[in-house]
Amino acid sequence: MEPTATVQRKKRILSGIQPSGTPTLGNYIGAMRNWKMLADEYDCFYMIADLHTITVRQEPAKLRAQSTQMLALLLAIGLDPEQNVLFFQSHVHQHAEMAWLLNCFTYMGEMSRMTQFKDKSAKHADNINCGLFTYPVLMAGDILLYQADLVPVGADQTQHLEICRDIANRFNGLYSNVFTIPEGYYPKLGARVMSLQEPTRKMSKSDPDDSFIGLLDTPDVVRRKMRRAVTDSETEIRYDPENKPGVSNLLSIYCALTGESMDNVVASFSSKGYGDLKNAVADVIIDTLSPIQTEFHRYMADKSYLESVWRTGAERASRIAERTLSKAMKKIGFVAK
Ligand code: TYM
Repeated sequence: MEPTATVQRKKRILSGIQPSGTPTLGNYIGAMRNWKMLADEYDCFYMIADLHTITVRQEPAKLRAQSTQMLALLLAIGLDPEQNVLFFQSHVHQHAEMAWLLNCFTYMGEMSRMTQFKDKSAKHADNINCGLFTYPVLMAGDILLYQADLVPVGADQTQHLEICRDIANRFNGLYSNVFTIPEGYYPKLGARVMSLQEPTRKMSKSDPDDSFIGLLDTPDVVRRKMRRAVTDSETEIRYDPENKPGVSNLLSIYCALTGESMDNVVASFSSKGYGDLKNAVADVIIDTLSPIQTEFHRYMADKSYLESVWRTGAERASRIAERTLSKAMKKIGFVAK
């Protein structure tokens, strides 16, 4: 008799990035790099979160250009569009619909506790819109639509992931198991890459140019930004995020990109100065970014290929998203079409 093969479904990943500017080294180390690393083991959906960007005003032409560039960058870091589903959030209408449903299962008090809402409303005091307030609900829908088991993100998304789990558990409690409860996946080193100018804050693409490394920065720009990176008035190179946030950030970037252990790296710099460390970090960043940039320009020169990738991605994503949305709508009590 033939042995019966049990085919197990691969676990699923969903993650996303906003096309609100050129991604930073923080986005790369905290999230994008892990997307590539996990691609073989999981069934992966990677989304360009364009709907999320309009919680802050966007210039239409710029948003369009940045979105296309983001897709080219995802391909350039090595994500194979056959193996992974790469898509624009706005091409899959189920995201907006799921967000409405979940809005009705989320409390105002929960949303007002979100630190990102507090930060962004302070930064954009003239435009504290309802989308900004319910942003985490849209994000919860993104994840739940795909029944994702794992969500690889940086540490700044922890609170959003927690609320996603809360909403999913609440919904499941009311209607029996509709949604998979997702887990976060955070890198051991680099879950929070810090600003080069204010190393107690996270590196962010919306901060002044000198405070972050953009994935498309040229070698000259990388070296200049590294030279200007804030350190401290001591000379000793050691890992101590509390007292030496600038130096520790540079060490973390170095370890994350080379894969070397912190102890070895600190030992190798024991007789060296901050200038040497900055040069070494600049070198590994340039080595990492160069091949990505070459690939990026190649993909950007082939618009029809990019278009075929986003069309196929939207179709594949919609099929899964529709399945979950219909299930949730049926449970709530809407009449089936
Ligand atoms: P976004 O676009 O701000 O960032 C994309 C990813 O990069 C990570 N990240 C960082 N990691 C380490 N250090 C940093 N300095 C740093 N800055 C950013 C973020 O944690 C994130 O993983 N709301 C999300 C996008 C989103 C999403 C989703 C993510 C929409 N729907 C569903 C996961 C699942 C955001 O604004 O990421």
